[in-house]
Amino acid sequence: MFITFEGLDFSGKSTQVKLLSETLTHEHYHILVLREPGGTEIGEKIRTILLDKKITGMTNVAELFLFSASRSQLVEEVIKPAIEGGMIVLCDRFYDSLTAYQGWGKGISAETVRVVNQCASAGLVPDLTFYIDIPVKEVERRMSRSHTSRDRMESNGIAFYERARNGYLEIAKKESRFRVVDGLLPIETIEETIWTTVSASLAKK
Ligand code: TMP
Repeated sequence: MFITFEGLDFSGKSTQVKLLSETLTHEHYHILVLREPGGTEIGEKIRTILLDKKITGMTNVAELFLFSASRSQLVEEVIKPAIEGGMIVLCDRFYDSLTAYQGWGKGISAETVRVVNQCASAGLVPDLTFYIDIPVKEVERRMSRSHTSRDRMESNGIAFYERARNGYLEIAKKESRFRVVDGLLPIETIEETIWTTVSASLAKK
């Protein structure tokens, strides 16, 4: 089973990945937790380039291919073998991030994003995707309270985040695997909602 988590930066999705992984481990499932970009030696090097604030002037297309190169490596080297081995794979971001951020956010055409996503994921589609939705104002609020400095991707600005959020909401309308979760709810409520969905899915398998 392959479960992905999506959302704007500071949406709290990484916290939910951690909480779900703890519950699944407690329930004795074999799980693997991954993040994108990264998760392989090549992917982690690409991640460093993508998030490095000192790198300026990266073209949108270069960015698209770097995220996708990391994804391809992760799919072939790690995700596919794990799923074939019967593991539950939790991934913090997958190709819907590319559609929302590089497609809707940066204006790369939907067709280009579709083809690149298909190629980088080798046709692998998540069974379930949790999209943790928060308004952009909340991203700003959480960002200003955070003590870490903004990385290159977090420096894209408010209008960019609005476009990316609209993108996610559009994907949610089209993809039946998407579950939109209100990211303003308390952490425990979100955790319960996610576990209800995942446990029901596991019961059907
Ligand atoms: P993270 O902060 O969730 O680890 O993700 C790193 C940043 O990269 C985040 O700002 C979202 C962005 N991103 C994209 O723009 N496109 C992608 O395909 C992925 C996976 C992440």
